[in-house]
Amino acid sequence: MLEGRRILLIIGGGIAAYKSLELIRRLKERGASVRAILTRGGAQFITPLAVGSLTGEKVSSELFSLTDEAEMGHIELSRAADLLVVAPATAHLMARMAAGLADDLATTVLLATDKPVLVAPAMNVRMWSHAATQRNLARLAADGIAVVGPNEGPMACNEFGPGRMAEPAEILAAIEASFGAGPLAGRRALVTAGPTREPIDPVRYIANRSSGRQGYAIAEALARLGADTTLVSGPAEIAPPAAVRCVKVETAGEMLAACEAALPVEVAVCAAAVADWRARAQANQKIKKSKAGLPALELVENPDILATLSRPGPRRPRLVVGFAAETEDVIAHASAKRAAKGCDWIVANDVSPGTGIMGGEENAVHLITPAGAESWERAPKSAVAARLAARIAETLAGGAS
Ligand code: C5P
Repeated sequence: MLEGRRILLIIGGGIAAYKSLELIRRLKERGASVRAILTRGGAQFITPLAVGSLTGEKVSSELFSLTDEAEMGHIELSRAADLLVVAPATAHLMARMAAGLADDLATTVLLATDKPVLVAPAMNVRMWSHAATQRNLARLAADGIAVVGPNEGPMACNEFGPGRMAEPAEILAAIEASFGAGPLAGRRALVTAGPTREPIDPVRYIANRSSGRQGYAIAEALARLGADTTLVSGPAEIAPPAAVRCVKVETAGEMLAACEAALPVEVAVCAAAVADWRARAQANQKIKKSKAGLPALELVENPDILATLSRPGPRRPRLVVGFAAETEDVIAHASAKRAAKGCDWIVANDVSPGTGIMGGEENAVHLITPAGAESWERAPKSAVAARLAARIAETLAGGAS
């Protein structure tokens, strides 16, 4: 799928450098050609011989090398690539990129290039969450640099948290997506996320506590696999993923209209926590407190977006996935919901108090399909999203649901 693509891989100085060897192998398997720059730090972790044996190309590392400049200079290295991938990108390397420094071959090539750049950060959890690193990350994103990972998990420094480099398979998927070559390339996806806000008067509304995290992660995961993804989001505090088209809405009515405008799609994932009711009439002015008594709030039912998208017809997506937040008999209730809504799959989660799932970083879900229920182990919402997106890609490729 990457036949003829030319990747320039810059390997920074982190323990995750060993994973770059696997990445090279997978890129080559898919027909890409890979040239590598090993930074001085990178060469402390893996050898030029290992890298060169896998790429089948000369490995570069020094900026002022007479022989290297004569063979392929720093400008030529970037010219001869379709994509630059920095993996692992250490905190220091990201800082130098953000500042536009050019004090070794890697950073000089990165400054001299006009090709797309993909960065896979890898560092200690505290270095990752440090304000300086987050500032550098925002600067790199603003400069148009794509980022994959990092993941959350146990780290070589005996700590736990975000900072682990994305797995080679994930970096590969990001590379394929950047070439429009992922397993969902050419397919359109729709994701709803976040709460909705139903106005009562100009200052008051009905809403709920949904953060939008799981839906945003799913949109990002689908886009990473190459899907042309529209994210229809209610008011959420988190930044939309870079590679998706984000349509911001407030009410359930607006969310339904935005979803219908995004059709046709092959897959729709409804992760939004849509308000079930709205006020029948919205007051034009703020409702005043009155000695005469309490205002009566008459509610009417909102449209069910999932059920509407699931209705049979020429515009029905091939695969419609709903969510079910349950507090008891999760699988039984979610299976009943699948039938009632007419969707193909339901992702069910137990949001009982004490699970920490609602608004949290992790999720433990059951996937309900026509074939039955599967329970997935508890994992970060990004990992659940990646697994769901992979399953969607597999299903659409296979033609079944
Ligand atoms: O009926 P319930 O709200 O439990 O169903 C949850 C599923 O239905 C979620 O996928 C949610 O996004 C979707 N839903 C919807 N429109 C509504 C209510 C729920 O799309 N009005």
